[in-house]
Order: sequence, then C-alpha cells, then structure tokens
Amino acid sequence: MEILAKSSPKHALTILALISTFALSRATGSGSEASKLFIEESCNTTTYPSLCLETLAPYAAVATSRLSLCDAALAVAIQAAGNCSAAASSGRKRFEEAAEAEVVKDCAGDLKEAVYELKETAAAMAHLGGSDREFQWSNAKTYASAAITEAETCVDGMAEQKVSAAVRKKMKKCVDHVEKLISISLALINHLY
Ligand SMILES: *[C@@H]1O[C@H](CO)[C@@H](O)[C@H](O)[C@H]1NC(C)=O
Ligand SMILES: *[C@@H]1O[C@H](CO)[C@@H](O)[C@H](O)[C@H]1NC(C)=O
Repeated sequence: MEILAKSSPKHALTILALISTFALSRATGSGSEASKLFIEESCNTTTYPSLCLETLAPYAAVATSRLSLCDAALAVAIQAAGNCSAAASSGRKRFEEAAEAEVVKDCAGDLKEAVYELKETAAAMAHLGGSDREFQWSNAKTYASAAITEAETCVDGMAEQKVSAAVRKKMKKCVDHVEKLISISLALINHLY
C-alpha cells in the first residue's frame, strides 16, 4: 500500500463531515420517488441488491448522484466495520481461553485496518474531480478491495484456529455483514463511470 497516497488530516475531516452528513440525512429526509428509483437501479448492479436497497434507501434525500451514493455506502460500511471491531475488542476480555482471545483480537485488528482502508477509499473518492481522476478512482478500488481482504482474513482466522462455535458464529455474522457492505460500495464505485 506504500505506493498509494496517504491521507492528510484534511482528508480525515472530509470523511468525518461525510459521515455526519449522512447520519443527519438519515434522520431527516426521505427523498423523492425518482431518487428512490435511482438507488434501486444502482443497487441492482451490486451482488446484494436487497441489502443494498435496505441500507441505502434511508439516504435517498442526499444520495442523488452516483458519487454521493458511493459516499453513503462507504459511510455505512465504515460504521459497520467500526462497530464490528469494537464488539470484538470488548468481547475478547471475556474469553477464558487465551488462544480464543488472541484470534478475536486479531480479527478486531483486521477490522480496524478495514476501517482505515475504507477511509482512504473515501478520501480518494473526494478527489475524483481533479485531473488525476483515473489514478484516484483506481486508488479507491484498490483500497476498497483491500478492506474486503481484511474482513476475509478475520473470517479465515476464525476457521483455522481454536475458536468456539458460538464465538465464530457471532463474529462471522458481524464480519459477513461488513464484507457485504464493502462489496456493495466497491460495486457502486466500479459503476461510477
Ligand atoms: C431491480 O431488480 C428487481 C429484481 O430483478 C426488479 O424487480 C426491479 O424492477 C429492478 N429495479 C430497477 C429500478 O431497475
Ligand atoms: C453501529 O452501532 C451504533 C450504536 O450501537 C448503531 O446505532 C448503528 O446503527 C450501527 N451501525 C451499523 C452500520 O451497524
């Protein structure tokens, strides 16, 4: 990942603003019929159309362009990955088995990486208006793919190592959801132009 541009504090602010904008819009607007149809159409190009629609419909008032729909999808994926990572971090203290706690800790770390990569994706997306659009677009796709890999690494770690079925089931459910949300974001990014 070293070859890619690192995000500056300014990017971090952009992303915070992005997330709060979408959090706010979710609470207030409902969006026009045209905007809902646009979201449905866009979601139909993803691997998980119904989850996509269910997740993004609340943002119909603001997600009225392909780009803002991508931003909304990313904001949701960042939140979900953060939630999942936090759940893993707080849950691990309760495990008696050291090995199990270790696996869950690794998973929380993978998800933190995923959050970082999703923020880098959003930062690249914020720069699509410039002359280096192809480069930024490519960066966005690379980072979103890397975030999917982080989620897969977590799930693979659960499968290979000593984790009880109950823990695996709980974590897998959380991480699978995150992975689907990232996959939806990536599909929308791929269909931008
Ligand atoms: C999306 O796909 C569903 C299922 O195939 C279809 O019923 C619906 O009309 C499609 N929506 C749009 C807006 O293309
Ligand atoms: C993340 O957790 C917060 C607090 O529990 C919740 O309100 C929010 O809906 C969750 N977001 C996602 C995307 O799971």
